[in-house]
Amino acid sequence: MKIISIKNNKGGVGKTFITTQLAAGLAYADKRVLILTSDPQNNVFNFLFKGDKTFKKGLKAEVLKKDGEYFRLRSNLYFLPLEDVKFSNQFLKEVVEFIKRIKNEFDYILIDSIPTLKIDEIFLNLSDYIIIPSYADELTTESILELLKTIDVSKVKAIVTNRYKSTSAVQKANYTALKSDLEGSSILFTDPIENLSFIELMIQNKKTIWEYNNTFATKVQKIFLEILKVI
Ligand SMILES: Nc1ncnc2c1ncn2[C@@H]1O[C@H](COP(=O)(O)OP(=O)(O)OP(=O)(O)O)[C@@H](O)[C@H]1O
Ligand SMILES: [Mg+2]
Repeated sequence: MKIISIKNNKGGVGKTFITTQLAAGLAYADKRVLILTSDPQNNVFNFLFKGDKTFKKGLKAEVLKKDGEYFRLRSNLYFLPLEDVKFSNQFLKEVVEFIKRIKNEFDYILIDSIPTLKIDEIFLNLSDYIIIPSYADELTTESILELLKTIDVSKVKAIVTNRYKSTSAVQKANYTALKSDLEGSSILFTDPIENLSFIELMIQNKKTIWEYNNTFATKVQKIFLEILKVI
């Protein structure tokens, strides 16, 4: 089983989008996938779940009392939501046991992160790999270079620029600069995922990129397939 965090320090860049699309891609490839989150907003529901999303017991209850509520999102794809971010010492101790307990049930755990580093330390430590969503403005580019200084870089498998405006000279310059910064490293730096109305509509309909067959979808699928190859 591999544990993968999708992490950056900025809000609204596409952590939940990228987590859900990768998770669905793995599930379509017949892998058993569990999505966890360090973000109690539990936005994963908004991307993949049409049913009733009210819950009382999530990850904390599962870790401490083995009675968390798993939501089935697709075939092979499950989500254990998070109640809140108050983690007791007991939780910190038992989360490792929890991972051991479910090791044989899932091939992958994908963790949709919160844009605060402090809360995420425990999740990042548990992770085998980290995937960083990026946005091609100066602030986000700088924050990614900062993030790379604070986390275990050997875990970083890919950086994916999202919501890219191909007509923006500024974004093009930031994208190219980050790309050249990463040259020679073992981190995959993908083609950018464009900011598309198609993606907005797709998310609104709680569909995934794998459920479409058009030129927009094919282009984005290719980028996600590149990432799936390295995890
Ligand atoms: N490539 C894209 N094209 C168009 N819209 C997008 C794209 N990627 C994400 N979005 C939209 O942008 C918004 C932010 O995306 P998302 O929720 O994945 O970001 P996030 O990093 O998880 O945010 P937060 O920090 O709040 O958790 C969402 O409303 C989503 O629908
Ligand atoms: Mg999110």
